[in-house]
Amino acid sequence: MASLQEQIQQFEQEILAFQPANAAELENYRIRFLGAKGILKQLFAEMKNVPGDQRKEAGLTLNSFRQLAEEKYESFKDLAEAAASKGPAIDYSLPGTPLPTGTRHPLRVVENKIISIFERIGFSVATGPEIEDDWHNFTSLNMPHDHPARDMQDTFYVSSNPDWVLRTHTSSAQARILETQPLPIRVICPGRVYRNETISARAHCFFHQCEGLYVDKNVSFADLKQTLYYFVTEMFGEHTKVRFRPSYFPFTEPSAEMDISCTVCGGSGCNLCKHSGWVEILGCGMVHPNMLRNFGIDPEVYTGFAFGMGVERITQVKYQVNDLRLYSQNDVRFLKQFQGI
Ligand code: DAH
Repeated sequence: MASLQEQIQQFEQEILAFQPANAAELENYRIRFLGAKGILKQLFAEMKNVPGDQRKEAGLTLNSFRQLAEEKYESFKDLAEAAASKGPAIDYSLPGTPLPTGTRHPLRVVENKIISIFERIGFSVATGPEIEDDWHNFTSLNMPHDHPARDMQDTFYVSSNPDWVLRTHTSSAQARILETQPLPIRVICPGRVYRNETISARAHCFFHQCEGLYVDKNVSFADLKQTLYYFVTEMFGEHTKVRFRPSYFPFTEPSAEMDISCTVCGGSGCNLCKHSGWVEILGCGMVHPNMLRNFGIDPEVYTGFAFGMGVERITQVKYQVNDLRLYSQNDVRFLKQFQGI
């Protein structure tokens, strides 16, 4: 009878030459070499007949033989798997598994609507930094250090240096535009703003605004009213009414707040309009002469109007969102309601 070494050599030749054409041939190979009563098992059983002084070497040879036999099987394993799955591994004729698509955030949807409405009448988009200096956020907007209007907005300071703040409104972008852009100016500036408020359904420590600024010769309050009326009818529908109430902002004179007829009840009274029929949506006014002077613009030659609206507020009025916290909780059940709007 051939020695263990000789047998192994012979089987090695067989394994090296083996090329299964199908899963059945591979299975035969598995049974023959690796099966419970297969060749490997038998060879290992013969180890007990090997004389003691040759046992170590025979063990090494047998182990590397086992490795060869197993590796050969592994290298064709996909054949066996394809057979097990009864049919081709992939059925290319089946429709793919649909991936759930994301949705745009409602605030981004509304911001995009605001932008496209103003772009149609010649406004371009500008942005400014969220970390601002005192000059652009307050002082140049006609709010010197001791101005009481600074208390209207609770400010976050970035460091112990009181010159650096998280901007409290996008009006700071107005200042940067007046500083850098040539006249005439017609821009809107959407962006995030921050205030030190306790978070509740009606207040948040960050939210979004969109600022508008138009400076040219002969810009009048009538232009302001007509521009904002156009915006409202485009955003909320042509039957929406507007009204302007006198108000106060340091950077505009005269200043006003603009209300629109309630989008939910149409004026008959509901929770959104607190039974008044009107909802406030923005602040506006004619750019204060002091502000123009701060940027070297002669208020005798140029005039302008400005306005600032809260994007959350517009979204609330348009889509009846009643809790500001929903916008930043990332709850998919909330977010996916705005699919396709
Ligand atoms: N900055 C104001 C605020 O955050 C909003 C505002 C009012 C902006 C009047 C303006 C404006 O440009 O003219 O409450």
